[in-house]
Amino acid sequence: MSKFVHIFPLSIYRDSLTLAPDYRQQLIDSILQMEAASQKKSVDRAWLGDTAGHEFLFQREEFQELFRAIAQKIRDYTMALGMNNDLLDFYFQRSWATVTRRGEEINEHAHNQSNISFAYYLQKPAGSGGINFITYDHPNEISPGAFTPSKADLGFIDRPSMLTWNTVGINPKEDEIVIFPSKTLHATVPSETDQPRISISADVTTMLRDSRGHETMMPNFKHWRSFDA
Ligand SMILES: [Fe+2]
Repeated sequence: MSKFVHIFPLSIYRDSLTLAPDYRQQLIDSILQMEAASQKKSVDRAWLGDTAGHEFLFQREEFQELFRAIAQKIRDYTMALGMNNDLLDFYFQRSWATVTRRGEEINEHAHNQSNISFAYYLQKPAGSGGINFITYDHPNEISPGAFTPSKADLGFIDRPSMLTWNTVGINPKEDEIVIFPSKTLHATVPSETDQPRISISADVTTMLRDSRGHETMMPNFKHWRSFDA
């Protein structure tokens, strides 16, 4: 009996934060105020708080409860991947909100300057679009582009599978967090509704508490030396 053994997967972590609706509304109001105070953004592109001067949300008082909840989920994520959290320090390096209105999207990108990234869906109306994850180096792709979803329309892919597609969409629910390696290419699906989709993202850097004996992973910045020191 033949069988597959699946190795080298990309594992996307999903969970709910179960934040109280009135607390979420407080954060939504805060983000919409930031958006309203910003200059007009590009046509068809979502409002991105990080490029509008709001890239350190974790410094704001009203976001403290949110970031405590997210920190716990990120520890759960790395533990589920098999890592020993006792040896690691975690830092939110930047964090921002996105506001996506009808017809808007966020193009394909990755956050290569960090280790772990996430999207938390503060407001996620029906029809407001999910998130696509993309790879150009799928281990199962025996010819570049062979497992592109459009190949299904051509009849080339008989039995579509999340395990082989080079682009896979996830449609998170409101109050859900999606955690993934920062190097993962991702893009959002255009919104088809009038109520905005509001998400919060952050980039997280992990470093070893004690790097003695380790060749990989970042040594703790507390031991670094500035050029200007
Ligand atoms: Fe992103």
